[in-house]
Amino acid sequence: MHTKNTLFIGKVLLDFPELESTNLYALELLTKSKPIEGTVISTFQQTQGRGQIGSSWESEPHKNLSLSVILHPVFLPLHESFALNLAISLAVRDFIAKNVEKTTKVKWPNDIYVGNRKICGILIQNSIGNGLLQSSVVGIGVNVNQTSFSTNAPNATSLTLETARTFPLYDLIDDLCLFVEQRYLNLKKTTSFESLRQEYLQHLYRYGEESSFRRADGSVFQGSINDIMPSGKLLINSAFGEETFSIKEISFL
Ligand code: BTN
Repeated sequence: MHTKNTLFIGKVLLDFPELESTNLYALELLTKSKPIEGTVISTFQQTQGRGQIGSSWESEPHKNLSLSVILHPVFLPLHESFALNLAISLAVRDFIAKNVEKTTKVKWPNDIYVGNRKICGILIQNSIGNGLLQSSVVGIGVNVNQTSFSTNAPNATSLTLETARTFPLYDLIDDLCLFVEQRYLNLKKTTSFESLRQEYLQHLYRYGEESSFRRADGSVFQGSINDIMPSGKLLINSAFGEETFSIKEISFL
């Protein structure tokens, strides 16, 4: 099986009835062979989905998309590797926004939110060799037809909850791959990532809004997101001045 409308993403589509984690499978595949760029690993029954910073990603069987795209972004200088995150986040946001007529934002660094609810999680795992980004496993989990979520995910939503429709999962894979491909090809052509950064900021959840955050030490403070650094760090302005944060150093309240 393969995608119908794309040039290279999903032309090789490895589709499994059940898999622990599509990211794990893709990472293992990369250690054994050189899968061609655009290879997609997909399952509708992911049993041990991986989330960011060691968390897990739960998905009811046969209701949602769990897939990983293998890319070889060797053209990206290492110090610009966050640009891949910008491009992928915007691609997935475009895909959700096409299906949901509500405000759809990117919550830094790469969650997709409809209103104040999370509809999609992204986990990008990069491999570096010879000073270059040799491969990236772009894992995307989209809540599609699932309508109830565990208490571990109190703010989760899905395409069905937002639209009162059910969606054909295979068609959505095709569509999602097309959005990712378009953004990835643009990224490849770009020499300056400034317009990509601006577009990301335009769609960034709570950008420029006064809101509450929690530091890694548990303390809570008020501030507003001012910018994203080229490294991908979040810049927040507060009574403490301007500070930058990595993903482990801050959470949103
Ligand atoms: C997060 O929000 O913490 C990221 C979740 C990423 C989940 C996707 S589902 C497909 C791919 N395979 C995984 O094991 N994780 C990602």
